This record gives sequence, C-alpha cells and structure tokens, in this order.
Amino acid sequence: MAYFTTTHLLHLSALLLLFPPNSPLLTLVSSIGINYGQIANNLPSPEKVVPLLKSIGADKVKLYDADPKVLKAFANSDIEFVVGIGNEYLSKLQDLSVAQSWIKSNVQSYLPATKITSIAVGNEVLTFNDTSLSGSLLPAMQNIHTALVNVKLDRQVTVTTAHSLAVLETSYPPSSGAFRRDLVPSISPILDFLSKTCAPFLINAYPFFAYKGNSKEVSLDFVTFQPNAGIVDSGSNLHYDNMLFAQIDAVYAALGQLGYPKLPVQISETGWPSKGDDDEIGASPENAKKYNGNLLKVVNQKNGTPAMPDYDLNIFVFALFNENLKPGPTSERNYGLFKPDGTPAYNLGFSGVSSGGKGNPGRNNFTALSPPYALLPGNPGDGYMVISSAGRFVWKRSIRIKIMILLLIGVVGPHCDDMGGI
Ligand SMILES: *[C@@H]1O[C@H](CO)[C@@H](O)[C@H](O)[C@H]1NC(C)=O
Ligand SMILES: *[C@@H]1O[C@H](CO)[C@@H](O)[C@H](O)[C@H]1NC(C)=O
Repeated sequence: MAYFTTTHLLHLSALLLLFPPNSPLLTLVSSIGINYGQIANNLPSPEKVVPLLKSIGADKVKLYDADPKVLKAFANSDIEFVVGIGNEYLSKLQDLSVAQSWIKSNVQSYLPATKITSIAVGNEVLTFNDTSLSGSLLPAMQNIHTALVNVKLDRQVTVTTAHSLAVLETSYPPSSGAFRRDLVPSISPILDFLSKTCAPFLINAYPFFAYKGNSKEVSLDFVTFQPNAGIVDSGSNLHYDNMLFAQIDAVYAALGQLGYPKLPVQISETGWPSKGDDDEIGASPENAKKYNGNLLKVVNQKNGTPAMPDYDLNIFVFALFNENLKPGPTSERNYGLFKPDGTPAYNLGFSGVSSGGKGNPGRNNFTALSPPYALLPGNPGDGYMVISSAGRFVWKRSIRIKIMILLLIGVVGPHCDDMGGI
C-alpha cells in the first residue's frame, strides 16, 4: 500500500461516485465460452469457425486437445483458448521432459498470436474410479506447470483439470455441498495446487441429467431457467430459481468445507441436447433452446450466483457442433448449437450471420457468413437472449474501469493467497 496516496484515494472515490459498485459499468466480467469438440467427420475447417464463434459473441473456446489446425486458424482472433490434454497422456506426463516438450510444441509455439490462457489436464479423471489414473493426475498437472515456469509462461497460462459434478456426494441444498468422501484425499492436494497457482476449479454440470433421471420430481422450468417459484436453501436462506446456480454453489460449499472457499469455480461444460433416444426425457430442440438461450441471457446479466454474487460466472457451453461420431446415447451426438454445415441446430435467437434469418435456416450457412458479424434479433418478446453489440461494449468498458481502479490502488489483480487455503 506504499503507493496509496491521498490523491489516489480522491481519484478512486471520484470513480466510485461516477460508477457505483452496482453500476452496469462495474459489473462482473462474465463472458461466454464454448466447447469446440471435434469427434466428427463432417465439421467445417477451423477458418470457417472463427466468424461463427464471433457471431454468437463467444470470446473463449475450450478444446479437448491442442489441435494445431485450430490453434493456427485462431491466431490474432482475440479469442481465448483453454487447450486440453487427454486422460491417455497422464501417465506419459509423469516425466518432466515430456511435459516440457508438450508445452514447447503445443503452447509456446502459438503464443502470443493465439491466446492460450489455460490448460485442462485430463477430463473427469477422478470419477472414473481408476486409482492409477487418479494418482497420475496431480503429478501431470505439476509437471505441466513446472514446464510453464521454465519458459516463464506460468503467469499467463494456468493449469487445471475438469471434474464431473459426480465428485460431489451432496449437492442439495447447495449450502451442504460436499465432495465424495473417498475422493477427498485426491482432491485436497489438487485444490492446494490450484490455489497456489491462481488457477480455477473446473466442473462439468448438466442439469439435463438431473431432469432426465427424475423428470417426475424435477421441475423443467427450474432446470431450464424459465420463470418458477424456485427453492430456498434451508441452510443459507438463499433463494435459487435455477438448478445450475444451485449446483455451482454446492461446489463452492464443498470447496469451503475443505478450506478453499474462495477458489473460483468455472463451468467447463454445460448444455442441453436437442435430440435423444426415446428414454432420454427432455432432449428436444424446444428445451435445448430454453436452456442454452436462457443461459446466455443469465451470463449476460453479469451477476454471480446467490452464494457468490461477486464472483464472475465463467461458463463454457457444450458444444459448438453436433458431433456425429460420439459414442453413447443419441443425445451425445446432439449437444451442438450448430449443425456441421454451420446452420443453427435450433433457433437460439441468433442466426449465424446470414441474410436468411429465422425460418430460413438453409440460408444460414458458412458461405453466407460475412463481417461485421451483426446479430439478428431472435423472436422479440420470447424472453430469450439477444446478444447485442451494446452488451459487448459495456463488457469492454467494465474491464477498462476495473483495471484503472486496480492500478490506482496499486494492486494488479487477485493474489494467489487471496483465494483461500488454510
Ligand atoms: C465410482 O464410485 C462411486 C462411489 O463408490 C460410485 O457411486 C460410482 O458409481 C462409481 N463410478 C463408476 C463410473 O464406476
Ligand atoms: C449458402 O449460402 C449461399 C449464399 O447465400 C447460397 O448461395 C448457397 O446456396 C447456400 N448453401 C446452402 C447449402 O444452403
């Protein structure tokens, strides 16, 4: 606080007067990300995907690998990347030299043109119940981190891993959220690592599964962000009107129980399929439109969850495309916002960027994509999301002002030791 002079204070209070904490210009830096899965043989080339992503206002992409074609195509695109390392590589990464060469060829060679900001090591590793795989997770993360330190990239690229919501033993009510007891010995040291390296905790959360598993008891409106009475958490007295926020706060509660109440949670996957097998209740274009459309709207409101109102919502929708080669039930191949030809899988209120528009999906195709990526309104009045250019402007302004304030008070951002840990 040596730099904290009266002049700074005056500037700061002047700024706060101009932009009180709840002003739209000081809102959270929530933004929308999307999972770019590629288990398909009919997807367009990555070059054609760049304008498509811009058209939906996505500014972050998560990959399940470090596909060179994608990372090259997105050079100078301003889109941030989370790259992935598959579970099958964890054992090889026990060797630091392997981690070092992985970082060199998959991260270092693309920076700074392609903005790789995070590496997700493994996906849902702990819920495979495979002790050897689970045991290799943290050492692999540590080696990847050490490799980043060695090339001085550890401050700009975080190392984390994505978990299934099934790591929780209790998720209801949210305030009683707790990790599966048998997983605590493997999760605790991971949390310590994330906290010390300023990395977020990633969770894949699908209210769809809760609905599909118990459609008689679970309210469709509650899981799809439609207006509903909601629930009151008997432990915290907080009111929840959607299941995703309840799930996120259950994760925060579980982190708190292990001593990491401030570790930021990101939703590395969430989504809703537009098609499913006969027994996959709820999988339909109508429900997918409600879930994903309302989700984008909620993210754009830039509020946190009831328990963590001041924390950014960081959500990656699953997924960009329907993926025709994914195994499993029909729903697995139908989570995409888009079909492989670039037309919307259902009307989400944005229409790609074609002249076709609503009701004419055949014309919303890649050849029709053109700058400036203006978005057509959806159904005015249907309550779903319309991503406006105004929203993007506010987002940018809010960052600038946040940075100004942080500079004024001589702080350059959250420190690792602000993130909890005991
Ligand atoms: C893993 O173990 C937990 C707890 O014993 C169990 O509930 C779960 O079904 C198992 N998952 C798999 C994929 O075997
Ligand atoms: C894609 O759009 C272009 C330009 O509007 C049009 O000429 C072409 O026929 C469309 N292709 C498909 C498959 O709809």
